[in-house]
Amino acid sequence: MPTVVIIGAQWGDEGKGKIVDFLTEKCDYVVRFQGGCNAGHTVVVGDEKYILHLIPSGILHKNKKCIIGNGVVLDPGGLLKEIETLKNKGIEIDNNLYIAKHCHLIMPYHIAIEEQSEKKKKIGTTKKGIGPCYTDKIARNGVRMIDLLYPEILKNKIQANLEVINFLLKNLYNAESLNAEDIFNQYMNYGDKLKKYIADTDILINEAIDSGKNVLFEGAQGSLLDIDHGTYPYVTSSNTVAGGACTGAGVSPIKINSIIGVVKAYTTRVGGGPFPTEIKDELGEYIRQKGGEYGATTGRPRRCGWLDLVGLRHSVRVNGFTGLVITKLDILDGIDKLKICVGYKYGSRILEEFPKELEILENCTPVYEELPGWKESTRGIKNYENLPDNAKKYLQLIEDSLKIKIQIISTGQKRDEIIVKESPL
Ligand code: IMP
Repeated sequence: MPTVVIIGAQWGDEGKGKIVDFLTEKCDYVVRFQGGCNAGHTVVVGDEKYILHLIPSGILHKNKKCIIGNGVVLDPGGLLKEIETLKNKGIEIDNNLYIAKHCHLIMPYHIAIEEQSEKKKKIGTTKKGIGPCYTDKIARNGVRMIDLLYPEILKNKIQANLEVINFLLKNLYNAESLNAEDIFNQYMNYGDKLKKYIADTDILINEAIDSGKNVLFEGAQGSLLDIDHGTYPYVTSSNTVAGGACTGAGVSPIKINSIIGVVKAYTTRVGGGPFPTEIKDELGEYIRQKGGEYGATTGRPRRCGWLDLVGLRHSVRVNGFTGLVITKLDILDGIDKLKICVGYKYGSRILEEFPKELEILENCTPVYEELPGWKESTRGIKNYENLPDNAKKYLQLIEDSLKIKIQIISTGQKRDEIIVKESPL
């Protein structure tokens, strides 16, 4: 079964977009299964840079079927803008994009509520309404893609939801109320423009798999931001781990045959929350500048730190990775001494497993193994043998500790700056 799931193994921004783009060459279908426009996948094709938030990056290839699965929360206004930008660049969309009927929609009141709640709670969200939209989904109040085709249902849902939301906006947050009629008209208009893409995507995907097509499931964010397995409450609101591909697309776990963990050669995190290996001095700033570590969606500076094998061990376990991809190795070129975190010290204890307690995670100190860096540039290297010896040692330590093969190493932003040791497809 040629199905592969691509997952971020850290706190997101591992460079999944480039890997998905690379593997799409061999795929017929690319499926997004969770998250929404909080994600930002950057892909560089020739001299053109594309930042995609909702549409799978497979769309940049000719004749690939791109699916937004039921697990995604979709902002229709944002999607329409993305479609328009891509069409203006000559990308074919209309015959290649499908959106699940059961995809939940981000409504203006989700964004309004999140703006207010972030003032108090400070998770450091992207303020795209992701959390409130998933809240409505679980509370069974959500508006779904299919509702755009049934005006009465849509109107009733918006009215019922706004009764509660406007009460909160006015009485709890002292903020302006929203108008149900305006939102209804705006979403009917979105429905008109998007209806041609609405489909039974679970059927499409399963038929594709059953007929031997190659299907790639493209994760967003990272495993340590998973709502169940991440650093709760400093997480996103969806299951970012591999299991999310099954529920978020309507595919059985027995139909998935490889799960690739994408690992940045160091670690970054954007937003609040514990980050044991964060580098708070000028080296952190150096990595941020060199690695272009600024959020693709919000432009916020990303916090930078050393590679953390404790977090990765957890990620390996909850995902069941069958192979790894290491990205941005070239950003470490020229750093004298490199550190890799192999354990956490908490009081007198050394922890080898990622703690579930936020209190421990916030107050532990990393135990590092120090490795000599390399002076040579690895940028654009395509052959593993040509990597500096110390870079190979750095990679070997990752493989040995995690006991998973590194299949691909990315050595730059461009499509062809890549070492393929073993293709997952
Ligand atoms: P939300 O997903 O907007 O609710 O934000 C929750 C947390 O996830 C915040 O810390 C965000 O910075 C983080 N987050 C959301 N999307 C991404 C992403 O694509 N990359 C990295 N962090 C993200």
